[in-house]
Amino acid sequence: MRLLITAGPTREPIDPVRFLSNRSSGRMGYALAEAAHAAGHEVLLISGPVTLPAPSGVQIIRIETAREMFDAVRTHLPGCDSAIFSAAVADYRPAQIIPQKLKKSADTLTLELERTEDILGSVRSQFAFTGFLVGFAAETENLIAHAQDKLQRKGCDLIIANDVSQSGIGFDSLENEVTLCLPDGQTMPLPRQLKTALARELIAHISRLSSPHATK
Ligand code: CTP
Repeated sequence: MRLLITAGPTREPIDPVRFLSNRSSGRMGYALAEAAHAAGHEVLLISGPVTLPAPSGVQIIRIETAREMFDAVRTHLPGCDSAIFSAAVADYRPAQIIPQKLKKSADTLTLELERTEDILGSVRSQFAFTGFLVGFAAETENLIAHAQDKLQRKGCDLIIANDVSQSGIGFDSLENEVTLCLPDGQTMPLPRQLKTALARELIAHISRLSSPHATK
């Protein structure tokens, strides 16, 4: 299958030298891209700024902001059979980009933020994508309930849920521990493991679930 994967953080500029971002390393998305390529799939990776080497055999498009990731997904999603949204997209960006480097003056500074595009949330409603859609849900409480709610709201076929309140897994870690959530309410916890090993397991599940003859 042809698979689109988003990965890494986005950067939302404040002025020419500063930005808002998050701790995402991109490791989960890059591991998924590598595992999918190794399993024989054609992979397009849309990546925010990370320090990881580009996975071999994978087409990569590099972006910085949520808006650029939104545009790249809109352009490249048609023709893909499946899409996995593992990027940690900034939910807000500065409402105005200050054109010159901001100089310090007052003791406090207030930045006005505005919502960014909800990329995963646009896939069914705006892009009319009919392929197999996988989202991530990073939660600190009520993991399964929030993940199931996200699955319904965004029209996903699978949500990969992880509890980011636990240390050593998820954001900026080598390991992850996730629970698969399916539209029929079924859940499947997977053991804590290296993201590289987990990625192989996830790609196997996604290949099975997305096959037209899948017996879920
Ligand atoms: N996502 C996205 N575009 C955004 C924000 C998130 O595509 N602007 C995707 C992520 O890649 C992930 C999923 O949406 O697959 C869930 O991200 P999360 O931030 O947990 O979801 P939200 O719907 O923003 O939920 P919350 O209310 O928890 O912020």
